[in-house]
Amino acid sequence: MSNTVLLEVKEQIGYITINRPEALNALSSQVLSDLDRVLDEIKGNDDIRVVIVTGSGEKAFVAGADIKEMDKMTPTEAFEYMTYANDVFSKLEQLRQPTIAAVNGYALGGGMELALSTDIRLGHEKTLLGFPEVGLGIIPGFAGTQRMPRLIGTSKAKELIFTARHVKAEEAVALGILNRLVPAENLLEEAENLARSIMKNAPLAVEKAKHVINVGIDLPLQNAIRLETEAESLLFSTEDKVEGMGAFVEKRKAVFKRK
Ligand code: CAA
Repeated sequence: MSNTVLLEVKEQIGYITINRPEALNALSSQVLSDLDRVLDEIKGNDDIRVVIVTGSGEKAFVAGADIKEMDKMTPTEAFEYMTYANDVFSKLEQLRQPTIAAVNGYALGGGMELALSTDIRLGHEKTLLGFPEVGLGIIPGFAGTQRMPRLIGTSKAKELIFTARHVKAEEAVALGILNRLVPAENLLEEAENLARSIMKNAPLAVEKAKHVINVGIDLPLQNAIRLETEAESLLFSTEDKVEGMGAFVEKRKAVFKRK
């Protein structure tokens, strides 16, 4: 079996590693299909509570879609490649588990777009992001033109996409692309600490919060608020809600069961 994407599970954290260091983890069709398979495994694994996505090697998170593969594509093949990548990235975005990108170096083009499909992004001082696509005669094709404006606003997204410039880590934090920076040697550890601080809480509540935010952001406000109210009332039927509020009243630590 191909191993361009690795999945490891430790203490209820699923680690996805894009594993093509010789090509700076560029997203070939094989990588996309391996990522697709790994996401299906995660979807079916109730033991995984939080997912961390990172890249192999010291240099790159992901340096983009595979330019050498795209170089030979016909428009029809490009359509299929982009459509498949978008299906896979949407699967990542819609995972019920919260996802954290540990952006450990270059996150360019498709690499930035992969990071944008996660919930929370941590970087370090050498993390470098950007959309080089217009310099290659194309545009971001894994939903960068859509997710980035929704995250940072149209004007700032247009500047990044039109200039194709590299954005340093501090600026990426100021723009709201990265949540924060941590020392390079602690990146994975900080991602794990963040994962554990999420895992202390009621899993179904965290999953519902993610769903309501993801779906609600594209709805008219009143419909989105209604979605929230319905999700909230459903959570009142869970054992974990009884446990969470009971533990507060009884002044003890809650023990959640994802029930
Ligand atoms: N696709 C295919 N191969 C890539 C790659 C990519 N996106 N990025 C790097 N590589 C390969 C290089 O070709 C090189 O392989 P060889 O040793 O066989 O020549 C290897 O990875 C190491 O890369 P460099 O020697 O270039 O490393 P560097 O440190 O000198 O430069 C870099 C690093 C600035 C990231 C440079 O590799 C680079 O500019 N990469 C391309 C970045 C890019 O343009 N990404 C956007 C792609 S388009 C896209 O993603 C479209 C979309 O949205 C669908």
